[in-house]
Amino acid sequence: MCGIVGYAGGRPALGIVLDGLRRLEYRGYDSAGVAVVAGGALSTEKRAGKLANLEKVLAESARPGIGDGTTGIGHTRWATHGGPTDRNAHPHVSADGRVAVIHNGIIENFAKLRAEVEATGVVFSSDTDTECVAHLLAAELASLDGAAGADGADGAATGNLAEAMRRVCRRLAGAFTLLAVDARTPGAVVGARRNSPLVVGRGSGGNFLASDVSAFIEHTREAIELGQDQVVLITADAVSITDFAGQPATGRDFHIDWDASAAEKGGYDYFMLKEIAEQPRAVADTLLGRLTETGDIMLDEVRLTDQDLRDIDKVFIVACGTAYHAGLVTKYAIEHWTRIPCEVELASEFRYRDPVLDRSTLVVAISQSGETMDTLMALRHAKEQKARVLAICNTNGATIPRESDAVLYTHGGPEIAVASTKAFLTQLVACYLVGLHLAQVRGVMYADEVASVVDQLQNMPARLTRLLDTMAPVRDLARELAGVSTVLFIGRHVGYPVALEGALKLKELAYMHAEGFAAGELKHGPIALIEDGTPVICVVPSPAGRGVLHDKIVSNIQEVRARGARTIVIAEEGDRAVLPYADHLIAVPKTPTLLAPLVTTVPLQVFAAEVATARGHDVDQPRNLAKSVTVE
Ligand code: G6P
Repeated sequence: MCGIVGYAGGRPALGIVLDGLRRLEYRGYDSAGVAVVAGGALSTEKRAGKLANLEKVLAESARPGIGDGTTGIGHTRWATHGGPTDRNAHPHVSADGRVAVIHNGIIENFAKLRAEVEATGVVFSSDTDTECVAHLLAAELASLDGAAGADGADGAATGNLAEAMRRVCRRLAGAFTLLAVDARTPGAVVGARRNSPLVVGRGSGGNFLASDVSAFIEHTREAIELGQDQVVLITADAVSITDFAGQPATGRDFHIDWDASAAEKGGYDYFMLKEIAEQPRAVADTLLGRLTETGDIMLDEVRLTDQDLRDIDKVFIVACGTAYHAGLVTKYAIEHWTRIPCEVELASEFRYRDPVLDRSTLVVAISQSGETMDTLMALRHAKEQKARVLAICNTNGATIPRESDAVLYTHGGPEIAVASTKAFLTQLVACYLVGLHLAQVRGVMYADEVASVVDQLQNMPARLTRLLDTMAPVRDLARELAGVSTVLFIGRHVGYPVALEGALKLKELAYMHAEGFAAGELKHGPIALIEDGTPVICVVPSPAGRGVLHDKIVSNIQEVRARGARTIVIAEEGDRAVLPYADHLIAVPKTPTLLAPLVTTVPLQVFAAEVATARGHDVDQPRNLAKSVTVE
């Protein structure tokens, strides 16, 4: 969690850092702060609340020098240690005023380190785990003073700062990305990472450090992803990387293939609305180049042989939040196409129940960010048990894909709104491709059968575009229902995870009581919730699929209606059987049963965003949430 950005170059750092923070605010927005080195001194400012609070203070009474310095760091926080207050906001400054530090992650041995620092007479000014790093760094720098270029790896002028960081990192346990500036090392920012992301942006006349590339994409598209346990030091014209022991190291160079405009709102009021509208393109991009001339499905990185995949006798899908719902849909597809048993599990529960895993188990980790700590830990647990791990991820080079045996990247582009939309649809597409790949490698589906599903998938962008053009009545209905206290969602088969996703969206965005149920479970309890006028959104499968499934949910709709529910029915165009029982009908394009969530989810996204807007909420940054949850 938390967004961090650093700059060392020839231009004033403050504006560059604040612009970067604006793009990283999706990672947390409990507080924000900056530190700039100017004239041999540190100038810092920080405030609880969103970045706008900090910007207001800076505009009204900027600290001396803060606008001039060309080296700076900035932080936007999602609180872990210590409440979201001004004093707990980052940066944290050492007692001697020399060093400022920002941090993403949790330092697990902080209590011991804090006691050690306090024993030297330092009085802490926050409740955070981060502050002890600032004091430890200052102490290391003091002891290194006079021994410039301690190990030579980083250059004599700035080497002490990197060496001090390495010494401190060797003592830290837990997950961290750290950035620090030192008033006596102007022109340099040092960074370090373990179990938490850090990328370098290589600019001309200046270099950048950030949690992700969106922070610096308007300045450069050339980047380096740091490896585990590495320290990096940037100046205006150099980037040097070492491991924690001080040995020269390299990161992974990559070119960013989306541009700054992709990270802007593009005329929409909220990123979420833009991201909903981008779904046809995101789905198309995720499908691009997946089918070879010989009809084989292509993944992106495969460190598994076809024989490894043939040996798989069980699949576990692990994920959190919306990605978990994508996993629930995938179970139906994988079992249907491959006949391999497939379980879906919340990543946060997976390793604690000691699942039975071995070499012939495939664990599929689904994560938009690729940094969700629960999913990462589930993945690591699976690897320890020798299971094969395949990642589905939207973020190139993130930790989860890097630690997996095979990867399929969704090409959704940056998703900024906290509530996931295009990531969900592209995860579904990627999951279908994985299912087809498994089926093909194992010889249970012929190339022409695979091609016909891919063909259906390739028709999806056009169907989605058509569907998005018909959303005005959904928005009208959302505004009409904005005042209700409860909305229920029901579905069967793949419509059940869609019901869960619809309810999650409404909870996240509208702060409303919303629950999704398997329609068949209604009569076993939830039907008691229905009062006169309770809106129930019913996700109906195609009548062209399994007839019995369709008939069963039509009965469920009648059951809730008989008890006073106001029924909002999402059904396929031309499905006349639902008409007598639908108070509101939302028609979606004809789609094969297993692929239907690609269309039935969309009206639920639009509905939730509109209810939230009508209730006056910030659609992109719902309260208490963050996009990338990098703590367990
Ligand atoms: C957070 C977000 C959700 C997201 C979940 C998993 O809770 O608010 O929208 O679905 O994390 O994120 P991931 O990056 O692993 O897909």
